[in-house]
Amino acid sequence: MMSKILVIGAGGQIGTELVLSLRELKGDEHVFAADLKDDCPEKLVGGPYVKMDVLDKEFVRSFIIKNKIDEVYLLAALLSATAEKNPAFAWKLNMEGLFTILDLAKEKHLKKVFWPSSIAVFGPTTPPENTPQLTIMEPSTVYGISKLAGERWCEYYANNYGVDVRSIRYPGLISYTSLPGGGTTDYAVDIFYQAKLGNEFTSFLKEDTTLPMMYMEDAIRATIELMESDSDNIKIRSSYNLSGCSFSPKELTEEIQKLMPEFKAKYVPDFRQDIADTWPRSIDDSNARVDWGWKEKFSTESLVKVMLNHVDVNLLKNS
Ligand code: NAD
Ligand code: SER
Repeated sequence: MMSKILVIGAGGQIGTELVLSLRELKGDEHVFAADLKDDCPEKLVGGPYVKMDVLDKEFVRSFIIKNKIDEVYLLAALLSATAEKNPAFAWKLNMEGLFTILDLAKEKHLKKVFWPSSIAVFGPTTPPENTPQLTIMEPSTVYGISKLAGERWCEYYANNYGVDVRSIRYPGLISYTSLPGGGTTDYAVDIFYQAKLGNEFTSFLKEDTTLPMMYMEDAIRATIELMESDSDNIKIRSSYNLSGCSFSPKELTEEIQKLMPEFKAKYVPDFRQDIADTWPRSIDDSNARVDWGWKEKFSTESLVKVMLNHVDVNLLKNS
């Protein structure tokens, strides 16, 4: 029988595309989308939707048990920049939902869990080039601290209670289907909207701040490949390093200028620069390649082409 899947935080940047891909693979009726909003986001109306606050533990538990959900993708979180503005709430949101879901898996109500981590688990003392899977991890943001703690708890539940939990340390994700939700890498999405609008772009990061990035199609494929892999292949139960490409605001600008020579950008760093300065520049993801066969498809050049072709400025106007 086909697994029943629940995606919590389905209305966000990753969730929108993940739900659509999972529905294509598993059938619309098998993939429930859940988010805070009363109404189902327009792009997700093709399948079941439930209004859900992941902090409402009793509701989450009874929904999952009553509907015989097999797998949960838990995406609801505050991202790096928003989290710095409200550290106490970020810690609560990013941790409590995870325990609710891990406990349901421990009690055998769930067969499999996906929970995303981030390059934010690394910090200023981490080697920044080709950052290894196992290395110094002293994150200095509340977001990074919550993701590192979450990774440790995932591994703990896997080792001690046999929970089948799987995770990826996503780099900054670039997509056009929905807007990003308050991260330090969001400039690399907004730049395409400003280019299409014919505006000069103001980057909130310095021109030479290189960060690991990935086109969303690669990230969704990685997530589904990880979740579909045989459990024996998943040797890492904290979270896998994953690499797509790396670029700085200046390099991204120059790539856009190859297709839009009139495009201009300036660089006016704000508080997000301090966050970016603590993150790696590139990632060594050899464990993901060996364990479950990961390989990226998109380079900086190819993601720029797709983004410029598909970005719809109406999305920005309607947000
Ligand atoms: P997002 O902010 O775009 O979406 C999060 C969604 O969760 C939103 O639709 C929001 O309404 C929902 N949500 C918030 N609070 C909720 C609650 N209490 N109950 C239910 N839903 C709630 O985030 P995203 O970019 O899609 O990221 C999803 C996950 O992936 C997060 O855990 C994030 O840390 C991680 N991640 C994202 C990136 C990235 O570049 N987008 C990179 C690394 C890791
Ligand atoms: N894109 C995310 C952020 O900037 C990385 O986790 O917060």
